[in-house]
Amino acid sequence: MEIRAALREQLIGAGQEHLVGVLATATPEDAASLGAQIAEIDFALIRELIDRFVGGAYMDAVGGSLSPCEAIPLPRTDEEYAARDRARSSGEDALRAGRVAAILLAGGQGTRLGFDGPKGNFPFGAITGRTLFAHHAAKIVALRSRYECALPWIVLTSPVNDDATRTAFAEANWFGLDRDSIEFVVQGTLPAVDALTGEILREASGEIARSPDGHGGVLLALARAGTFARLRAHGITTLFTFQVDNPLTSIADPVFLGHHIAAGAEMSNLAVRKRTADEPVGVIATRDAATVVVEYSDLPADLAGARDDDGHLVLWAGNVATHYIELSFADALTANGFALPYHRAVKVVPYLDDAGLQVTPIAPNAIKFETFLFDALPMARATITVEVAREEQFSPIKNAEGPDSPATCRRDVNRLYASWLRAAGVEVATTDDGEPVDLEIDPRCALDANDVAARLAHLGPIHTPTLLAPS
Ligand code: UTP
Repeated sequence: MEIRAALREQLIGAGQEHLVGVLATATPEDAASLGAQIAEIDFALIRELIDRFVGGAYMDAVGGSLSPCEAIPLPRTDEEYAARDRARSSGEDALRAGRVAAILLAGGQGTRLGFDGPKGNFPFGAITGRTLFAHHAAKIVALRSRYECALPWIVLTSPVNDDATRTAFAEANWFGLDRDSIEFVVQGTLPAVDALTGEILREASGEIARSPDGHGGVLLALARAGTFARLRAHGITTLFTFQVDNPLTSIADPVFLGHHIAAGAEMSNLAVRKRTADEPVGVIATRDAATVVVEYSDLPADLAGARDDDGHLVLWAGNVATHYIELSFADALTANGFALPYHRAVKVVPYLDDAGLQVTPIAPNAIKFETFLFDALPMARATITVEVAREEQFSPIKNAEGPDSPATCRRDVNRLYASWLRAAGVEVATTDDGEPVDLEIDPRCALDANDVAARLAHLGPIHTPTLLAPS
C-alpha cells in the first residue's frame, strides 16, 4: 500500500517507523483497519509517554513524606453517631432533590479474574447466579423509588466490552429501568508498546494492541460524550463513582454524601482499615497537606509496614475506590487538556512481530498506559475521606481464587445479609464451616439493615439457602 507522506513522517517522528513497513506490506483490508486505528492515536501523547516510561528502570515516584489519612472515623461516641445521622439527613435531602448521578466504572479488562466477557456479567448471586450488572441495577431501581429521584445511571465501557455490555443490558430488558435513564459511554484506549523499544504492538494483522486508558479515563470520556453538559442541564451537581466488581457498594450512600457536602469537598473518598501491611490495595494518605492515593505496588515495604505505638498500621487507610465528585470539578479537570497524570503498567501482551509471526511472551513484555481517577484527589480544593466498615461495604471480586475472589465475596455477602436478618430477629442457620447458609436479598426487596428490619422481620427461621426477592 502507498503510504501518505504525512503519515510516514508522523510515524517516524513518533518512533514508530516499523509501522510504515507493516502498512506497506499489509493486505488492503488490514491496512485500512490499521490506518483507521492509527488515525485515532494521539502521537504527541504517545511520544511523551514513551520518552518518560520506556527503556529505563522507571518507578512511579513516591516523593514527599506520607502521613496518615485523616478520615471521619466509624462512629463510636454519641456525638459521632449524631454527626452520622446529620450527614445522612443532608445526603438524603440532596438525593431527593435529584442532584446526584451514579457512574459505574466497567471499562476494565478484568484480567486477574480471567472471566470471559465484561466483569459485570459475572454471575455472583449465591442462589440465582444474578450478575453484578443485575445486582447494581436492582439497587438503582430501589434508590430511585426510595428517594423519588431520577438518579441517572452512566455505565463506562471500553471498546473491549462495549458491545457485550449493551447486549447484556438489552437482553435483560434494561433490568426494569427506563432505557433512556441509562447512558453508556465508551472510554478511550491507548496503544500498548514494547517495553524495551517503545514500538507500538500489533495484536493481530489488522489490529493495534490497545487497552483502556484506566479508570481516570472516565473523565475524558464523559467530557467528550457531552455527558457533563447533559447532566448539568438536568440539575445534577454531584457524581457518585463506583467499581463494577464490588457488590457491597452502597450506591449513592447518603451518609457519605452528607459528609462530602458538609466539608464543601470537590472530591471524596471511602476508606477501610487495611487487613495486613501487604494487602494489595491502594493506600490513602496525606502528602503536603493534600489527600493522595498510592498504589500498593508503588509503596515501599517499610512504609507499608510501619506501625504506631499501639501496633496499628500508620498508613491504615485502604482505598475503596468509591467517590463523590463535584460535576464542576470533574469538568474543570478536562477543560484545558487532561489534568490526570499517566502511569505505566508492565504486562504480558501477545503480539505479531514485524514478520507477522505470533509471539506469546512468558514474561511481561509490554507497557500499557493508564490514568487513575484517584489522582484527581490532590487537585481538589477540599476533600474528605470517610471510614466505612469493610464487612458492610467492601468485598471486591478481583482474582479467580484466594483473597478478593468470587468465593470470599460470596462469603462476605452471606455474612452481611445474615447480620441484617439476625439484627431483625430472624434466625439464620450456619453450615458446617460456621458460615451462614447461602442468602440472596434482592436490593429491590431490601437495600440495607433498616429495610430488612422494616420488611422482613416477620420471617421464620432460615435453615436452607434462601432468596428474598420482591413478589
Ligand atoms: P481494576 O484496576 O481492578 O482493573 O479496575 P480490572 O480491569 O477490573 O481488572 P484487572 O486489573 O485487569 O484484573 C477497577 C475498576 O475500574 C474499572 C474496572 O472495570 C473496575 O470497575 N476500570 C478499570 C475502568 O472502567 N477502566 C479502566 O481502564 C480500568
